[in-house]
Amino acid sequence: ALVSMRELLDHAAEHGYGIPAFNVNNLEQVQAVMSAADEVGAPVILQASAGARKYAGESFIKHLIQAATEAWPHIPLVMHQDHGTSPKVCEGAIRLGFGSVMMDGSLLEDGKTPSSFDYNVRVTREVVEMAHRVGVTVEGELGCLGSLETGLAGEEDGIGAEGKLDHSALLTDPEEAARFVEATQLDALAIAIGTSHGAYKFTRPPTGDVLAISRVKEIHARIPNTHLVMHGSSSVPQDLLTLINSYGGQMKQTWGVPVAEIQEAIKHGVRKINIDTDIRMAMTGAVRKFLAENPEKFDMREWMKPAREAARAICKQRYLEFGCEGQG
Ligand code: G3H
Ligand code: 13P
Ligand code: NA
Ligand code: ZN
Repeated sequence: ALVSMRELLDHAAEHGYGIPAFNVNNLEQVQAVMSAADEVGAPVILQASAGARKYAGESFIKHLIQAATEAWPHIPLVMHQDHGTSPKVCEGAIRLGFGSVMMDGSLLEDGKTPSSFDYNVRVTREVVEMAHRVGVTVEGELGCLGSLETGLAGEEDGIGAEGKLDHSALLTDPEEAARFVEATQLDALAIAIGTSHGAYKFTRPPTGDVLAISRVKEIHARIPNTHLVMHGSSSVPQDLLTLINSYGGQMKQTWGVPVAEIQEAIKHGVRKINIDTDIRMAMTGAVRKFLAENPEKFDMREWMKPAREAARAICKQRYLEFGCEGQG
Protein backbone atom coordinates (compact mmCIF):
# COMPACT_ATOMS: atom_id res chain seq x y z
CA ALA A 1 0.00 0.00 0.00
CA LEU A 2 1.10 3.58 -0.58
CA VAL A 3 2.47 5.08 2.62
CA SER A 4 4.00 8.38 3.67
CA MET A 5 7.71 8.89 3.03
CA ARG A 6 7.97 10.84 6.26
CA GLU A 7 6.62 7.87 8.25
CA LEU A 8 8.92 5.46 6.44
CA LEU A 9 12.00 7.60 7.15
CA ASP A 10 10.94 8.22 10.76
CA HIS A 11 10.67 4.46 11.25
CA ALA A 12 14.10 3.95 9.66
CA ALA A 13 15.59 6.58 11.99
CA GLU A 14 13.99 5.05 15.02
CA HIS A 15 15.33 1.61 14.15
CA GLY A 16 18.68 2.66 12.71
CA TYR A 17 18.47 1.45 9.13
CA GLY A 18 18.58 3.03 5.66
CA ILE A 19 16.23 2.55 2.71
CA PRO A 20 17.53 2.28 -0.83
CA ALA A 21 15.51 4.48 -3.20
CA PHE A 22 15.61 2.79 -6.57
CA ASN A 23 15.06 4.66 -9.82
CA VAL A 24 12.54 2.93 -12.07
CA ASN A 25 11.60 3.50 -15.68
CA ASN A 26 9.70 0.43 -16.79
CA LEU A 27 7.72 -2.67 -15.84
CA GLU A 28 10.66 -5.00 -15.29
CA GLN A 29 12.46 -2.61 -12.94
CA VAL A 30 9.33 -2.10 -10.83
CA GLN A 31 8.84 -5.87 -10.62
CA ALA A 32 12.49 -6.41 -9.73
CA VAL A 33 12.42 -3.96 -6.81
CA MET A 34 9.07 -5.20 -5.51
CA SER A 35 9.95 -8.88 -5.62
CA ALA A 36 13.29 -8.22 -3.90
CA ALA A 37 11.50 -6.30 -1.14
CA ASP A 38 8.91 -9.05 -0.84
CA GLU A 39 11.61 -11.66 -0.40
CA VAL A 40 13.25 -9.88 2.53
CA GLY A 41 10.28 -8.00 4.00
CA ALA A 42 11.60 -4.52 3.16
CA PRO A 43 9.76 -1.23 2.70
CA VAL A 44 10.01 0.26 -0.81
CA ILE A 45 10.85 3.65 -2.27
CA LEU A 46 10.32 3.76 -6.03
CA GLN A 47 11.53 6.99 -7.57
CA ALA A 48 10.98 8.43 -11.00
CA SER A 49 13.26 11.05 -12.51
CA ALA A 50 12.20 13.57 -15.14
CA GLY A 51 13.94 11.26 -17.59
CA ALA A 52 11.82 8.33 -16.40
CA ARG A 53 8.61 10.29 -16.81
CA LYS A 54 9.72 11.29 -20.30
CA TYR A 55 10.72 7.73 -21.21
CA ALA A 56 7.60 5.94 -19.96
CA GLY A 57 5.11 8.80 -19.90
CA GLU A 58 3.50 10.18 -16.77
CA SER A 59 0.47 7.91 -16.82
CA PHE A 60 2.58 4.79 -17.25
CA ILE A 61 4.83 5.78 -14.33
CA LYS A 62 1.79 6.45 -12.18
CA HIS A 63 0.00 3.24 -13.09
CA LEU A 64 3.10 1.03 -12.97
CA ILE A 65 3.53 2.08 -9.37
CA GLN A 66 -0.17 1.66 -8.67
CA ALA A 67 0.00 -1.80 -10.21
CA ALA A 68 2.81 -2.58 -7.77
CA THR A 69 0.53 -1.74 -4.85
CA GLU A 70 -2.11 -4.12 -6.22
CA ALA A 71 0.32 -6.95 -6.88
CA TRP A 72 2.09 -6.55 -3.51
CA PRO A 73 -0.57 -4.96 -1.24
CA HIS A 74 1.29 -5.89 1.94
CA ILE A 75 4.46 -3.94 1.05
CA PRO A 76 4.68 -0.32 2.30
CA LEU A 77 5.52 1.70 -0.80
CA VAL A 78 6.40 5.33 -1.46
CA MET A 79 6.20 6.92 -4.87
CA HIS A 80 8.87 9.62 -4.97
CA GLN A 81 9.70 12.22 -7.57
CA ASP A 82 13.46 12.44 -8.01
CA HIS A 83 15.19 15.79 -8.76
CA GLY A 84 12.29 18.16 -9.37
CA THR A 85 13.77 21.26 -11.00
CA SER A 86 11.04 23.74 -10.06
CA PRO A 87 8.00 24.14 -7.81
CA LYS A 88 5.87 23.66 -10.94
CA VAL A 89 7.37 20.26 -11.62
CA CYS A 90 6.76 19.25 -8.00
CA GLU A 91 3.19 20.50 -8.18
CA GLY A 92 2.61 18.35 -11.26
CA ALA A 93 4.01 15.30 -9.50
CA ILE A 94 1.81 15.87 -6.46
CA ARG A 95 -1.21 16.15 -8.72
CA LEU A 96 -0.19 12.89 -10.37
CA GLY A 97 -0.23 11.14 -6.99
CA PHE A 98 3.38 11.16 -5.82
CA GLY A 99 3.54 10.97 -2.03
CA SER A 100 6.99 12.50 -1.88
CA VAL A 101 8.85 15.00 -4.03
CA MET A 102 12.38 16.24 -4.29
CA MET A 103 12.78 19.94 -4.95
CA ASP A 104 16.39 20.14 -6.11
CA GLY A 105 17.01 23.83 -5.64
CA SER A 106 20.77 23.37 -5.51
CA LEU A 107 20.60 24.01 -9.25
CA LEU A 108 18.55 26.49 -11.26
CA GLU A 109 15.63 25.27 -13.36
CA ASP A 110 17.97 24.19 -16.14
CA GLY A 111 19.25 21.46 -13.81
CA LYS A 112 22.81 22.58 -14.59
CA THR A 113 23.62 25.94 -13.04
CA PRO A 114 24.45 26.06 -9.33
CA SER A 115 22.02 28.36 -7.52
CA SER A 116 22.36 30.77 -4.62
CA PHE A 117 21.44 29.80 -1.07
CA ASP A 118 18.56 32.29 -1.13
CA TYR A 119 17.13 30.88 -4.35
CA ASN A 120 17.34 27.37 -2.93
CA VAL A 121 15.54 28.41 0.26
CA ARG A 122 12.82 30.21 -1.70
CA VAL A 123 11.89 27.38 -4.08
CA THR A 124 12.22 24.67 -1.45
CA ARG A 125 10.06 26.53 1.05
CA GLU A 126 7.46 27.09 -1.65
CA VAL A 127 7.29 23.35 -2.29
CA VAL A 128 7.18 22.53 1.43
CA GLU A 129 4.20 24.84 1.89
CA MET A 130 2.36 23.32 -1.04
CA ALA A 131 3.27 19.70 -0.23
CA HIS A 132 2.70 19.68 3.51
CA ARG A 133 -0.84 20.98 3.02
CA VAL A 134 -1.66 17.67 1.32
CA GLY A 135 0.54 15.36 3.38
CA VAL A 136 3.34 15.03 0.83
CA THR A 137 6.93 14.70 2.04
CA VAL A 138 9.68 16.99 0.70
CA GLU A 139 13.34 16.30 0.05
CA GLY A 140 15.66 19.20 -0.72
CA GLU A 141 19.34 19.40 -1.63
CA LEU A 142 22.10 21.64 -0.37
CA GLY A 143 25.51 21.58 -1.98
CA CYS A 144 26.35 20.29 -5.43
CA LEU A 145 26.85 16.64 -6.18
CA GLY A 146 30.23 16.23 -7.78
CA SER A 147 33.60 14.57 -7.63
CA LEU A 148 36.14 15.88 -5.17
CA GLU A 149 38.79 14.51 -7.53
CA THR A 150 37.77 16.46 -10.62
CA GLY A 151 35.22 19.04 -9.49
CA LEU A 152 32.81 17.64 -12.09
CA ALA A 153 29.23 16.48 -11.62
CA GLY A 154 29.93 13.36 -13.62
CA GLU A 155 26.96 12.86 -15.90
CA GLU A 156 26.91 13.94 -19.50
CA ASP A 157 23.18 14.45 -19.54
CA GLY A 158 20.47 14.59 -16.92
CA ILE A 159 20.78 16.33 -13.58
CA GLY A 160 24.15 17.78 -12.64
CA ALA A 161 26.09 21.01 -12.55
CA GLU A 162 27.87 21.99 -15.74
CA GLY A 163 31.53 22.88 -15.64
CA LYS A 164 34.02 22.74 -12.83
CA LEU A 165 32.70 23.29 -9.32
CA ASP A 166 34.46 24.97 -6.39
CA HIS A 167 35.69 22.53 -3.81
CA SER A 168 33.52 24.27 -1.19
CA ALA A 169 30.36 23.71 -3.24
CA LEU A 170 31.08 19.97 -3.30
CA LEU A 171 30.72 19.55 0.45
CA THR A 172 27.55 20.57 2.28
CA ASP A 173 28.37 22.94 5.13
CA PRO A 174 26.79 21.85 8.44
CA GLU A 175 26.02 25.42 9.57
CA GLU A 176 24.42 26.25 6.25
CA ALA A 177 22.45 23.01 6.46
CA ALA A 178 21.05 24.06 9.82
CA ARG A 179 19.98 27.44 8.41
CA PHE A 180 18.46 25.72 5.37
CA VAL A 181 16.40 23.30 7.43
CA GLU A 182 15.21 26.07 9.72
CA ALA A 183 14.18 28.26 6.80
CA THR A 184 12.47 25.59 4.70
CA GLN A 185 11.09 23.07 7.23
CA LEU A 186 11.75 20.24 4.78
CA ASP A 187 11.64 16.57 5.78
CA ALA A 188 14.77 15.17 4.19
CA LEU A 189 17.99 16.76 3.01
CA ALA A 190 20.25 15.48 0.25
CA ILE A 191 23.84 16.37 1.02
CA ALA A 192 26.99 16.65 -1.05
CA ILE A 193 29.87 14.57 0.30
CA GLY A 194 31.81 13.71 -2.85
CA THR A 195 29.46 11.33 -4.64
CA SER A 196 28.23 12.04 -8.15
CA HIS A 197 25.60 10.57 -10.45
CA GLY A 198 26.36 7.85 -12.96
CA ALA A 199 28.99 5.12 -13.25
CA TYR A 200 32.10 7.31 -13.35
CA LYS A 201 32.45 8.49 -9.76
CA PHE A 202 36.02 7.68 -8.79
CA THR A 203 39.15 6.76 -10.75
CA ARG A 204 40.34 4.58 -7.87
CA PRO A 205 38.72 2.92 -4.84
CA PRO A 206 37.64 6.01 -2.88
CA THR A 207 39.26 7.07 0.38
CA GLY A 208 38.49 9.95 2.73
CA ASP A 209 40.09 12.57 0.49
CA VAL A 210 37.51 12.00 -2.26
CA LEU A 211 34.51 10.64 -0.32
CA ALA A 212 33.74 12.61 2.84
CA ILE A 213 31.65 10.25 4.93
CA SER A 214 33.02 12.16 7.95
CA ARG A 215 30.99 15.15 6.73
CA VAL A 216 27.80 13.10 7.24
CA LYS A 217 28.59 12.86 10.95
CA GLU A 218 29.17 16.61 11.24
CA ILE A 219 25.92 17.42 9.47
CA HIS A 220 23.94 14.86 11.46
CA ALA A 221 25.31 16.24 14.72
CA ARG A 222 24.07 19.71 13.70
CA ILE A 223 20.60 18.67 12.39
CA PRO A 224 19.84 15.36 14.14
CA ASN A 225 16.11 15.51 13.38
CA THR A 226 16.45 15.88 9.61
CA HIS A 227 16.63 12.70 7.55
CA LEU A 228 19.74 12.73 5.37
CA VAL A 229 19.74 11.50 1.78
CA MET A 230 22.70 10.24 -0.22
CA HIS A 231 22.49 10.63 -3.98
CA GLY A 232 24.92 9.02 -6.37
CA SER A 233 25.12 5.97 -4.14
CA SER A 234 25.65 3.19 -6.63
CA SER A 235 28.56 0.96 -5.75
CA VAL A 236 29.42 0.15 -9.38
CA PRO A 237 30.20 -3.51 -8.64
CA GLN A 238 33.44 -4.61 -10.29
CA ASP A 239 31.93 -7.99 -11.20
CA LEU A 240 29.18 -6.27 -13.19
CA LEU A 241 31.75 -4.08 -14.94
CA THR A 242 33.73 -7.19 -15.86
CA LEU A 243 30.59 -9.03 -17.00
CA ILE A 244 29.50 -6.16 -19.24
CA ASN A 245 32.94 -5.80 -20.79
CA SER A 246 33.45 -9.53 -21.25
CA TYR A 247 30.33 -9.68 -23.42
CA GLY A 248 31.20 -6.86 -25.79
CA GLY A 249 30.70 -3.85 -23.52
CA GLN A 250 33.18 -1.01 -23.44
CA MET A 251 32.75 0.65 -20.06
CA LYS A 252 35.86 2.37 -18.72
CA GLN A 253 37.45 1.35 -15.44
CA THR A 254 35.70 3.12 -12.57
CA TRP A 255 34.73 2.82 -8.91
CA GLY A 256 31.56 3.67 -7.02
CA VAL A 257 30.60 4.18 -3.39
CA PRO A 258 31.67 1.20 -1.24
CA VAL A 259 28.74 -0.40 0.59
CA ALA A 260 30.76 -0.24 3.84
CA GLU A 261 30.87 3.57 3.54
CA ILE A 262 27.09 3.71 3.06
CA GLN A 263 26.66 1.49 6.11
CA GLU A 264 28.80 3.93 8.09
CA ALA A 265 26.67 6.83 6.84
CA ILE A 266 23.50 5.01 7.91
CA LYS A 267 24.89 5.02 11.46
CA HIS A 268 24.93 8.82 11.21
CA GLY A 269 21.51 9.80 9.94
CA VAL A 270 21.41 8.75 6.29
CA ARG A 271 17.97 7.19 5.72
CA LYS A 272 17.44 7.31 1.96
CA ILE A 273 20.09 6.05 -0.44
CA ASN A 274 19.55 6.73 -4.14
CA ILE A 275 20.53 3.97 -6.54
CA ASP A 276 20.06 3.89 -10.29
CA THR A 277 23.37 3.00 -11.97
CA ASP A 278 23.79 -0.38 -10.23
CA ILE A 279 20.44 -1.54 -11.62
CA ARG A 280 21.35 -0.30 -15.09
CA MET A 281 24.61 -2.23 -14.96
CA ALA A 282 22.99 -5.40 -13.62
CA MET A 283 20.41 -5.42 -16.41
CA THR A 284 22.91 -4.55 -19.14
CA GLY A 285 25.29 -7.31 -18.05
CA ALA A 286 22.51 -9.89 -18.02
CA VAL A 287 21.18 -8.89 -21.44
CA ARG A 288 24.64 -8.85 -23.02
CA LYS A 289 25.42 -12.29 -21.64
CA PHE A 290 22.09 -13.83 -22.62
CA LEU A 291 22.13 -12.51 -26.18
CA ALA A 292 25.78 -13.44 -26.68
CA GLU A 293 25.10 -16.97 -25.51
CA ASN A 294 21.77 -17.29 -27.34
CA PRO A 295 22.24 -15.49 -30.65
CA GLU A 296 19.27 -17.31 -32.20
CA LYS A 297 16.74 -15.94 -29.68
CA PHE A 298 14.52 -12.96 -30.41
CA ASP A 299 11.64 -13.16 -27.94
CA MET A 300 12.00 -10.03 -25.81
CA ARG A 301 10.70 -11.87 -22.76
CA GLU A 302 13.56 -14.30 -22.88
CA TRP A 303 16.24 -11.61 -22.51
CA MET A 304 14.21 -9.36 -20.22
CA LYS A 305 13.82 -12.19 -17.75
CA PRO A 306 17.52 -12.53 -16.85
CA ALA A 307 17.76 -8.71 -16.79
CA ARG A 308 14.89 -8.50 -14.32
CA GLU A 309 16.41 -11.29 -12.27
CA ALA A 310 19.80 -9.53 -12.12
CA ALA A 311 18.10 -6.31 -11.02
CA ARG A 312 16.18 -8.22 -8.35
CA ALA A 313 19.41 -9.72 -7.02
CA ILE A 314 21.21 -6.38 -6.63
CA CYS A 315 18.14 -4.80 -5.00
CA LYS A 316 17.85 -7.67 -2.53
CA GLN A 317 21.53 -7.34 -1.69
CA ARG A 318 21.16 -3.61 -0.95
CA TYR A 319 18.04 -4.18 1.21
CA LEU A 320 19.99 -6.65 3.31
CA GLU A 321 23.13 -4.50 3.48
CA PHE A 322 21.21 -1.39 4.56
CA GLY A 323 19.32 -3.23 7.32
CA CYS A 324 15.85 -3.33 5.75
CA GLU A 325 15.15 -7.00 6.38
CA GLY A 326 11.82 -7.44 8.16
CA GLN A 327 11.26 -3.67 8.44
CA GLY A 328 8.46 -3.55 5.86
O1 G3H B 1 19.44 11.67 -11.05
C1 G3H B 1 19.92 10.76 -11.72
C2 G3H B 1 19.23 9.46 -11.83
O2 G3H B 1 20.19 8.45 -12.01
C3 G3H B 1 18.21 9.49 -12.93
O3 G3H B 1 18.78 9.42 -14.17
O4 G3H B 1 17.71 11.34 -15.40
O5 G3H B 1 18.82 9.45 -16.64
O6 G3H B 1 16.64 9.09 -15.45
P1 G3H B 1 17.94 9.85 -15.49
P1 13P C 1 23.63 6.58 -9.05
O1 13P C 1 23.90 7.10 -10.40
O2 13P C 1 24.87 6.45 -8.23
O3 13P C 1 22.88 5.28 -9.08
O4 13P C 1 22.72 7.65 -8.27
C1 13P C 1 21.34 7.74 -8.53
C2 13P C 1 20.71 8.98 -7.93
O5 13P C 1 21.28 9.67 -7.12
C3 13P C 1 19.35 9.30 -8.39
O6 13P C 1 18.87 10.49 -7.83
NA1 NA D 1 15.61 12.26 -4.79
ZN1 ZN E 1 20.25 12.08 -7.54
